[in-house]
Amino acid sequence: MNYGGVVSSPNGDVSLTVEVEEGEPVYHLKYNDKVLIAPSRLGVIFKETNLSQDLTLDYIESSKVDEIWTQPWGEQKEIRNNYEEIKLYFSKNESGEKMNITFRVFDDGLGFQYEWPEQVGLQDFVITDEITEFNMADDHTGWWIGAYQLNRYEHLFNETRVSETDTVHTPFTMKTDDGIHLSIHEAALTNFASMTVANNGNNSLEVDLVPWKNGDKVRGSAPHKSPWRIINVGETAGDLMTNYLMLNLNEPSKIEDTSWITPGKYTGIWWDMHLGTKTWESGEMHGATTEYTKQLMDFTARHGFYGVLVEGWNQGWDGSWFDNGDVFSFTEPYPDFDLKEVTRYADSLGVKLIGHHETSAGISNYEAQVDEAFDLYNEVGVEAVKTGYVGDFVEGGEWHHGQFMVRHYRDIVKKAAEHKIMLNVHEPIKDTGIRRTWPNMMTREGARGQEYNAWSVDGGNPPSYTTIVPFTRGLVSPFDYTPGVFNLLLTDKPENPDNNRVQHTLAKELALYVVIYSPLQMVSDLVKNLEANPTALEWVKAVPVDWETTLVPKAEIGDYVVVVRKDRNSGDWYLGGITNEKARDFEVELDFLESGKTYEAQVWADGEDADWKTNPYPLERTTEEVTSESVLELNLAKGGGVAVRFAPKN
Ligand code: NOJ
Repeated sequence: MNYGGVVSSPNGDVSLTVEVEEGEPVYHLKYNDKVLIAPSRLGVIFKETNLSQDLTLDYIESSKVDEIWTQPWGEQKEIRNNYEEIKLYFSKNESGEKMNITFRVFDDGLGFQYEWPEQVGLQDFVITDEITEFNMADDHTGWWIGAYQLNRYEHLFNETRVSETDTVHTPFTMKTDDGIHLSIHEAALTNFASMTVANNGNNSLEVDLVPWKNGDKVRGSAPHKSPWRIINVGETAGDLMTNYLMLNLNEPSKIEDTSWITPGKYTGIWWDMHLGTKTWESGEMHGATTEYTKQLMDFTARHGFYGVLVEGWNQGWDGSWFDNGDVFSFTEPYPDFDLKEVTRYADSLGVKLIGHHETSAGISNYEAQVDEAFDLYNEVGVEAVKTGYVGDFVEGGEWHHGQFMVRHYRDIVKKAAEHKIMLNVHEPIKDTGIRRTWPNMMTREGARGQEYNAWSVDGGNPPSYTTIVPFTRGLVSPFDYTPGVFNLLLTDKPENPDNNRVQHTLAKELALYVVIYSPLQMVSDLVKNLEANPTALEWVKAVPVDWETTLVPKAEIGDYVVVVRKDRNSGDWYLGGITNEKARDFEVELDFLESGKTYEAQVWADGEDADWKTNPYPLERTTEEVTSESVLELNLAKGGGVAVRFAPKN
């Protein structure tokens, strides 16, 4: 054995060992002296050479960092980046190709990255396999969605033991029988294939890179780096939610002046189409008309929201728009949508039009037009654009999460930044934290959103879904879930053969604004439904989208979660609590409030006899005075929730 090194995190909770066994690098990890990752192999196989075997460790460098940086917007304003690093320099026996592996050991996890420096022996290359392993110490419980399925990341989560998993997408979250929580993911995925993890048996997981259509995994030229492979760990499920290791492993912002990046809430000509009360395509039921847009802008201005998303404004939606990837125009509006007039009207009201680019996965058609399309939006004052990539395969057979698309998504984020445009990406690549580098990458979908409640053949997202999301897809945040449906039973839907509905109470719908973080947060229902419920609307108007700090006082994956966040622009705190199909009572200590201050707790709770299945609407609005010494009692109905604003009184 060729000794590598042992590195402990700054407070000693996490400790990493790296060794080289007969030319093969191996790492293992302990958390509070318990084995978290058993000895696991490292390395990458190229067409040109195999850098997982016959390696010599030439030398090691170590360093440490402890710094605080500020997010221009986010769920947490100040983030501490505190780790111990070792970098191991390897060369291949005889042929001499070089590979370095950098490990950063944090108090709440590990990140490691492969690097192939500039060298004579390895120039242009093709990676055919990555053999990185995550050997679990035991058969933990995991929450996962399968990779290599149609419909991208839009699936309900499975809860099984590791031994019963398939090849799964990351983040892959697990809980040990001792109650430790961990999650495997990657950071800074910008020019590589996405990492999925395959079950190799015996609780051994191995990286499985999503291939190009010819089977190559990654194409590149040295110097090149892989994304960081990360393992987040914490005592509680809530610890995972407040773990910022992924962001720390992304490069700092490349946008110097971020003052044009403005979080906000938005309405849209959107839910109508999902319900079937309007259409994206032209004709009598066309949603994106000048007149309807103006009506929505009036509502948006009246309630102080940021903007109005208008889908179906551009030529190309006629016929089956799922297949229109080659014909969409991103500059030509339909005749009944006057882009100049609606943006002039928006200006007069002080609201914004939010642009929309559905590509239906026609990447070459989109890339050919995107400069002009962003120029047009710049001309008319559109600052935020929602993009969409509906379609199962891209460009005749590329996966949505292979290297081809990873590069595309990255290029569009950069291009949008050049145009000072904020992005909300649907059917995106999973979030790996590049919003730190490109803070115009605001929010994205990448899971089953609210729209599944409108048309999914299984009837919609079950009550437990939103209690799993914060610990799986939500860990890498932000998520454009699009809350704000008040007409939970969808009585506007012309036909409802699958009994679609929102499967929780109204109070839970409100709580989602705190539980599921997004800097662009939708107010998604039809205006008449929103205005019919001024009590619920009052909450939606009040709740912020940009936070100073986030805490998670109570959480059990799949059962319940209570999140509290402090507004970045006032002294207010907000709480969102949700449960699955079971009713629950909680006592929450309010010790996060500033001591010595009195707050008015404004509570939107499940009303009498509320029950997601039989009686989802009762909403009780109460107020009480509280301080940091108080304990707040929360009573959540079956499938229910609670939303609280704490406003300082002095
Ligand atoms: C799917 C997106 O998730 C949805 O929000 C959008 O309305 C449609 N595509 C059309 O672009």
